[in-house]
Amino acid sequence: MKSYKIALVPGDGIGVDVTEAAMEVLTAAGQKFGFALEAESFPWSCAYYLQHGAMMPTDGITQLRAFDAIYLGAVGWPETVPDAVSLHGLLLPIRKAFNQYANIRPHRLLPGVEGPLKSERFDILCIRENTEGEYAGAGGRVHQGMGNEVAVETAIFTREGVERIIRFGFEQARARRKHLTSVTKSNAQKFSMVFWDEVTKELAADYPDVTVSHMHIDAMAAKMVMAPESLDVVVASNLFGDILTDLGAAIQGGLGFAASANICPDRSGPSMFEPVHGSAPDIAGQNIANPIAAIWSGAMMLEHLGEGEAAAAVLFAIESATAAGIGSRPGTHATDAITNAVKSALES
Ligand code: IPM
Ligand code: MN
Repeated sequence: MKSYKIALVPGDGIGVDVTEAAMEVLTAAGQKFGFALEAESFPWSCAYYLQHGAMMPTDGITQLRAFDAIYLGAVGWPETVPDAVSLHGLLLPIRKAFNQYANIRPHRLLPGVEGPLKSERFDILCIRENTEGEYAGAGGRVHQGMGNEVAVETAIFTREGVERIIRFGFEQARARRKHLTSVTKSNAQKFSMVFWDEVTKELAADYPDVTVSHMHIDAMAAKMVMAPESLDVVVASNLFGDILTDLGAAIQGGLGFAASANICPDRSGPSMFEPVHGSAPDIAGQNIANPIAAIWSGAMMLEHLGEGEAAAAVLFAIESATAAGIGSRPGTHATDAITNAVKSALES
């Protein structure tokens, strides 16, 4: 039997609850489709930080490299560890170390889920640059605490980084409805974003079958509300993609439905799968977090591992549950009830 080595990093808060839920469904999918998931769990989290003074051991990245994929729940417990410390100690280094430069986030309404918009027929795939740009971590502070204090945080855009993410966007568009929208702010940011626009135009020559639109981030935010059905694949920088995908989550009914994959396209390292939502300390461990985003992210993991049929079946099972009103609205069903509904739809 085929088997895949999965590193589980449940992390903090509801990350733990939803990782358990997702793994239950994915394991059932393996049983049905003839593969095993050999999961090893790592306790790296804010609780781990309080004990060890670091979010993960110094050889954490080396340990993860041996796995076929990483499944992450959520990171952050700001009451004890500042977010800038926990995220720069775990989530962000993993994305960068394994060149997971493509952060893929699908935004569409699952059946039975009511979104806030009039339009219900949108199906958007956001591709967010995930390793550089505004979140490169380049910068510094001087004269701290003094009147002349200065903080600088420089966005880094390299030709390699920009080309590869835009090419990835074109490839995704080619496999879907063949429309790519590149999001910048090149009217105001005259170096990096003009460069991004130029690269997009250069690469477009290789994809004559894909139509390209260029939009500024502000107009794009409005478009996602006013005419989301006009969008297919959207490609954006790290910061812009981060913001747009929370908007995407909102229009698809909330963060409980927003799945994501951090992909290393050349497979030189493992890719990582995680729901977009955070650790939600206020509802942690209460069996009330919606596991749909986490299970959907798990389906994306199966797809990436080459188990496309199982991935489609998990997604279909999610849709059967939400269509029946289970997990489709906040606060009506417990985490385990939703998980069981998805599992029995999968098994039936
Ligand atoms: C996300 C999150 C993270 C990000 C934070 C927690 C650093 O908001 O995955 O969208 O911005 O990358
Ligand atoms: Mn975000």
